[in-house]
Amino acid sequence: MSKGRIIAIANQKGGVGKTTTTLNLAYSLSELGKKVLLIDFDPQSNLTMCFGVDRPDELETTIYDLMMCIIDEKEMPDKSKYILSFNNLDLIPCSIELSAVEMSLVNVMSREVILKMLLENFKNDYDFIIIDCMPALGMLTVNALAACDSVLIPATAQYLSAKGLELLLQTIARVKKRINPNITIDGILVTMFSDRTKLTKEILNLMNDAYSEYIRIFESKIPVSIKVGEASYRYKSVIEYQPKSKVALAYQEFGKEYLSYGN
Ligand SMILES: Nc1ncnc2c1ncn2[C@@H]1O[C@H](COP(=O)(O)OP(=O)(O)O)[C@@H](O)[C@H]1O
Ligand SMILES: [Mg+2]
Repeated sequence: MSKGRIIAIANQKGGVGKTTTTLNLAYSLSELGKKVLLIDFDPQSNLTMCFGVDRPDELETTIYDLMMCIIDEKEMPDKSKYILSFNNLDLIPCSIELSAVEMSLVNVMSREVILKMLLENFKNDYDFIIIDCMPALGMLTVNALAACDSVLIPATAQYLSAKGLELLLQTIARVKKRINPNITIDGILVTMFSDRTKLTKEILNLMNDAYSEYIRIFESKIPVSIKVGEASYRYKSVIEYQPKSKVALAYQEFGKEYLSYGN
């Protein structure tokens, strides 16, 4: 894998485990010796709050300000002013202000590639840059897709069965055609999985039939667990909070599986 590989964690549906996967994949990769930078790219700022920031709107500098520096062609502030380091991970935080960028982008030249231009400044310092996308397919998510090398799609079995994936795949295809020809799809990570329900198994079988020929469905499945909520309440990844729990082990396994594909 090349240095500074950029991964977008995307799904236009909320509550499918994007932020949880971003944090725990990052933590798992960092345990495996990788240097990881996280980008909170959702104005709801859940990932920023996972780093112990209760009031993201009080932060001096966020991803919003950095995007505006690129748009206005201004000099960037010093990294020490905005990169938050916590539990071996680095984060560029976000606040609700990011939603204003979407408006600012309307009249900007090359508006789809502002984040890509911004992330050029960090690629050499990290093995992985992981973007936690917002639950929508607007200009911000297009910026994430334009900036990334690959997309990882967390999804629940219910979501997949509801055909929600088609629109996301279409958007990725469009970005590939017009803006980012090298983008690839890493695959689908099934989250909040419960193998006790027969329905889930049936859905997974259907999905495998429908998609597995052209999209990888990762072997690792993330089980549903109350530990996830407990961990985020304590500002921790679930791997730190309960390293022996099933869900922590699943995310660690997933980190290894992710690296083993070496794309
Ligand atoms: N494996 C899991 N088991 C149980 N709850 C989970 C799991 N993964 C995520 N959650 C919970 O579901 C909610 C949505 O997860 P989140 O990662 O924030 O999704 P998204 O970023 O896609 O909106 C959160 O409250 C989170 O704590
Ligand atoms: Mg989220």
